[in-house]
Amino acid sequence: MASRISLFVLLFIPLCSAADSFVKVVCDRSNVAQFGHQSMLMCVFDTTQNIPDLKITLVVWRKGTRGIKGIVPPVVVYDARNDPGELKILQEGYTFADTNFNNRNVSLLISNTKVEEEGEYSCEVTTDSGSGSATTRLKVTARYNYPTADKTLEKGRSNVDQTLVCNASGGYPEGQLRWFDNYKTDWTKSAKLTVTEDENGLFMLSSELPLLKGSTLPEYTCVVYNASGGKEGSISIPTEHTGASKANPATSTIIAPVVVIGSLIVGLLLAVIICKKRSQQQERRPSTLPLMGTRDDITPTAPYPYEPPPAYSVETRDNIA
Ligand SMILES: *[C@@H]1O[C@H](CO)[C@@H](O)[C@H](O)[C@H]1NC(C)=O
Ligand SMILES: *[C@@H]1O[C@H](CO)[C@@H](O)[C@H](O)[C@H]1NC(C)=O
Ligand SMILES: *[C@@H]1O[C@H](CO)[C@@H](O)[C@H](O)[C@H]1NC(C)=O
Repeated sequence: MASRISLFVLLFIPLCSAADSFVKVVCDRSNVAQFGHQSMLMCVFDTTQNIPDLKITLVVWRKGTRGIKGIVPPVVVYDARNDPGELKILQEGYTFADTNFNNRNVSLLISNTKVEEEGEYSCEVTTDSGSGSATTRLKVTARYNYPTADKTLEKGRSNVDQTLVCNASGGYPEGQLRWFDNYKTDWTKSAKLTVTEDENGLFMLSSELPLLKGSTLPEYTCVVYNASGGKEGSISIPTEHTGASKANPATSTIIAPVVVIGSLIVGLLLAVIICKKRSQQQERRPSTLPLMGTRDDITPTAPYPYEPPPAYSVETRDNIA
């Protein structure tokens, strides 16, 4: 029984309301606006029968289709129930594109499109011969600013020696940053993307790509993609070669003092060891002399006190003479 009633409701209510809505409002299904620019939600109305002197009594635009008790407050109203008609701007920045409604054009105009203006809108038109309404959607887009990139040298992280950073701000909706090397290999999986929103609701993308030690690729390119996958900008960043072939000033300024201090320490240690050994030998000598004395017999075989025989110099000189 209940299902029969609901079937009846489903079949006949739409038919009845279609017959009632003598006025039809037709809107562009979706409108794309650029952040910070003027945007228009296109709607016109028509009648199912030709009525030459149709009179508009009320046109109402609301942002959102639901609200408390299913009604949201209007943003702009044109009220012609009294003569002359009155334009009521209830939220700043909204007005009608054509306040004369020429060609039954009831389009809404937004002067400076912001991110929060994205969403569903509804337009209701009431005439002396009936009324109608329609909904439409506003999508906001903002192009990302030209990306910036930088690199930081890593000390302390065992396997990473530099990290590339790429930023792109001021875009909407949320986009993506991808990394490629000069062979077009995609390195995005190795990167970490951080997304933040600024005070206008625009997105700031920041991606960090850590590079492993010994990576020899000369440069990487950071590419900015918008929400629908369109390329919006790119920046290439050369990597830092930390190897011996091309020492950069940042590392050489660190390495130089390390080398100097290290060799000083080694030198000092050697000097200390040598001094100690010498003083030990000098201390030992008097006490060990009696012991060494027995060995003095064999000293002639030792090389030091032994005088080498004069070379053949005399002979050769004689020959020359
Ligand atoms: C409605 O009027 C505006 C302002 O004159 C115009 O730019 C727009 O193209 C019109 N829309 C239609 C559907 O005629
Ligand atoms: C990227 O953004 C972060 C966070 O705002 C900032 O600290 C960093 O300096 C920026 N780097 C570049 C290259 O713009
Ligand atoms: C993304 O970029 C493409 C190409 O530039 C453009 O056609 C498209 O409208 C953009 N989409 C968004 C959501 O910004």
